[in-house]
Amino acid sequence: MPTQARKTNAPIGNVVKFPSKLHYEIKTADNLKFMRSLDDESMKLIVTSPPYNLGKAYESRRSQEVYLEEQAATIAEAVRLLHPRGSICWQVGNHVDDGEVFPLDILLYPLFRTHGLMLRNRIIWTFGHGLHCQNRFSGRHETILWFTKGDDYTFNLDPVRVPSKYPEKKHFKGPKRGQLSGNPLGKNPSDVWDIPNVKSNHVEKTDHPCQFPVGLVERLVLSLTDKGDNVLDPYLGVGSSAVAALKNDRNAYGCDSVAEYTAIARKRIEALLAGQLRTRPMNKPVYEPTSREDDE
Ligand SMILES: C[S@@+](CC[C@H](N)C(=O)[O-])C[C@H]1O[C@@H](n2cnc3c(N)ncnc32)[C@H](O)[C@@H]1O
Repeated sequence: MPTQARKTNAPIGNVVKFPSKLHYEIKTADNLKFMRSLDDESMKLIVTSPPYNLGKAYESRRSQEVYLEEQAATIAEAVRLLHPRGSICWQVGNHVDDGEVFPLDILLYPLFRTHGLMLRNRIIWTFGHGLHCQNRFSGRHETILWFTKGDDYTFNLDPVRVPSKYPEKKHFKGPKRGQLSGNPLGKNPSDVWDIPNVKSNHVEKTDHPCQFPVGLVERLVLSLTDKGDNVLDPYLGVGSSAVAALKNDRNAYGCDSVAEYTAIARKRIEALLAGQLRTRPMNKPVYEPTSREDDE
């Protein structure tokens, strides 16, 4: 919970300012319209998961050419809004057409490069649940493309360190002999993140068919922004990015074209501010069922 976050009487849907510095702005709108209302270089982190052009409830399936043109327009606006020391994180999976797989990160990468953005990591997000395929291996990962504008960008590793495998391990020779060899705060979480996706039994599940786990976005918020910075999600869905931002004392901006989703987003934010929103802890270990060999 943000320490100072309290709600004002400002109407829902407008900018809601907290008595201190934190605020959020959630709109039901097409993202180009919403983004054009925001100031140049005002966002420290733009984190999102766009539609994959799969014909889900919230999108109409179109040609790959039209889909990429639409993505290019949103990406261009994101670049305009990006702070010079900021980051863009585009989380995508595959577009699948008649059994043929098109990895969206490969198709979208050139659109970011056109603007001179530099890729810092291609993070693999792996998870346990999904369709069981019959004619190919079941997909159990998606990716996050993390770009910055230049070499001078915010990156805070300590808040996102994860427990080391052998925290007691010590140097066994040399001048540091006997001292701990690893960082006592834990290790770098690496570019492979095993975080459960939000399916039916997940504590964060809402009516949205494909929402982010809050913990996934929290890792990006904590490492790529500082307290008080602005975080934008132009395909906000039910507000997982906004929750991750506000929970960690960052301002949240976002829009979605579906009113039902922004209504849920506002409810989740209100629950967060009331201390009543349940989220899966960011570094909670993934449940591993005991294997058959272990039983024997
Ligand atoms: C993959 S979902 C994002 C879910 C989100 N990450 C969450 O945790 O809820 C993509 C979202 O983009 C929204 N959307 C699609 N086209 C849009 C547009 N042009 N402007 C704004 N939102 C759009 C859809 O309604 C959908 O909720």
